[in-house]
Amino acid sequence: MSAIGKGARAELKGQRPSILWMTGLSGAGKSTIANRVEEALWRCGHHTMLLDGDNMRFGLNNDLAFTDADRVENIRRTAEVAKLMLEAGLIVICSLISPFRRERMLARQLVGADEFLEVFVDAPLDLCKQRDPKGLYARALAGQIPNFTGISSSYEPPEAPEIHLRTDMHDVDALAEQILDVLRRRGVTVCGP
Ligand code: ADX
Repeated sequence: MSAIGKGARAELKGQRPSILWMTGLSGAGKSTIANRVEEALWRCGHHTMLLDGDNMRFGLNNDLAFTDADRVENIRRTAEVAKLMLEAGLIVICSLISPFRRERMLARQLVGADEFLEVFVDAPLDLCKQRDPKGLYARALAGQIPNFTGISSSYEPPEAPEIHLRTDMHDVDALAEQILDVLRRRGVTVCGP
């Protein structure tokens, strides 16, 4: 048991640690917005960390595929890592599809109610298919990628996210600002637009 608590670590950083949990379909814009928000917070002097599903799967989670069971484990591990980073005093941005409500709820329950913000990065499936930034939808529709979210694997949209971003209606700056606004109201940052 460490003698130094998370409050002490956060105090040294002069910030209020939080987890921003961004969920949504592949191609909805999670990583783009996550990067923009992280940059804004960093410019403002905050100590942040971005945990991106794609990157986590290169290292810690490189034994996991896209079956339901592996996604559950992917989300669980990412949530546990985010919790450790929260305890280290950081503002943690998690960006992963995290398609299941139950696992997102478990992630939320790992930390305090005022430390977790669920951000629904929402774009219609048809638009994600059109955007197809990595060419994965085309391959999934051709039957080349099994268990692809939105095609052959389910996505359960959040029912009551703290923040709902419509990426089909607003640009990335406006969407990042929507998040920063909530963070300001929560006292996480005083960072301006
Ligand atoms: S999650 O469902 O377990 O949360 P995660 O966010 O880590 O998914 O990984 C999603 C990324 O993996 C996508 O952005 C895409 O680049 C890639 N990917 C590869 N195969 C699949 C698949 N079957 N379903 C969804 N994404 C996939």
